[in-house]
Amino acid sequence: MDFFFANIRDNFKIFQSFFHFYKISISLRFNDNNFKYKKMETVLSGIRPTGNLHLGNYFGALKNFIKMQEDNNCFFFIADWHSLTTHPTPENLHNNVKKVLAEYLACGLNPEKSTIYIQSDVPEIPEMYLLMNMNAYIGELERTTTFKDKVRKHPDNVNAGLLTYPVLMACDILIHRAQKVPVGKDQEQNLEMARKFAKRFNNMYQIDLFPEPGAYNFGDALVKIPGLDGSGKMGKSEGNAIYLIDEPKVIEKKVKRAVTDSGPTQKNQEKPEAIQNLFTIMKVVSQPDTYDFFNEKYNNCEIRYGDMKKQLAADIVAFTTPFRERIIDTMKNDEYLHKVVARGAEKARESAQKTLNEMRKVIGFYKF
Ligand code: TRP
Repeated sequence: MDFFFANIRDNFKIFQSFFHFYKISISLRFNDNNFKYKKMETVLSGIRPTGNLHLGNYFGALKNFIKMQEDNNCFFFIADWHSLTTHPTPENLHNNVKKVLAEYLACGLNPEKSTIYIQSDVPEIPEMYLLMNMNAYIGELERTTTFKDKVRKHPDNVNAGLLTYPVLMACDILIHRAQKVPVGKDQEQNLEMARKFAKRFNNMYQIDLFPEPGAYNFGDALVKIPGLDGSGKMGKSEGNAIYLIDEPKVIEKKVKRAVTDSGPTQKNQEKPEAIQNLFTIMKVVSQPDTYDFFNEKYNNCEIRYGDMKKQLAADIVAFTTPFRERIIDTMKNDEYLHKVVARGAEKARESAQKTLNEMRKVIGFYKF
């Protein structure tokens, strides 16, 4: 009898462990489905290595890149090949790439979450660019607004790289089959070209290789930061920017010089652009009650711009100081930069090779 029960107990144990195993395999499969269901979208953006990051870049783009890293498959790269259209010196090319890389990392682009790489580390891109160029027509490239602008502004440097700039940019995007491309308004036409080239290739070979990349709109989250010169947005070439790397003294001087007027004459009157601009910057760097305080002063015609500027400069300095310190540290850490870039190149190439191999096969490059 004892023997009989012992046997049942053993059998039960076997049954139990089998059931346990079965449960694991069910939950694994379930997770698998979940994973497919929640498949992350691919986000990609390229950053031209020119100049330092300013407040406008931070609030207009970078802050959103950082958020997007959380729930997307993100690729962020430094477009150094694109910068060759203006013929930088070797030192400038290298230093600018390093500066941009260090600044983006210091501000929160995270190599653990995103693929961060340098365009020229991915030789798959120029091969794809060669292939894509066969289906890009001179006429449509010549009609691109950015190309026409460049011809007008720099008639002595109308190089072929400039003409095919949209093809290279399309390859940057399509090589990772990105769906979302967070870029500013000035890049919309380039993005439209990328969609055109993607569709054209898909149609030509009757395949569905490339998704159509769309501009990624942050909606209300996107804050346009104005310059300090009275009108327009903050920009490198405008000479009206506050850089994250600026020393406190420099920031104070820039804010002091910002354009204002002789002050409001009627209660609650609308703010002219130059004044509104100061308030817009204050809104993003200062405490809400600081903003309210000066807003009320303005509305009561009691504002003293000198006081407001002093406060604004102090708040900008408080905001940028941790960034400046991290940028300086990151710039010094060559070993870290090297590691980030090497890992980024590896991940980017793995993704690029998949697309390029498919493209080669589709076109008819078969192995002998
Ligand atoms: N043309 C972009 C600019 O001037 C930079 C860029 C290059 C880019 N390749 C890209 C942006 C791909 C988005 C996707 O700012």
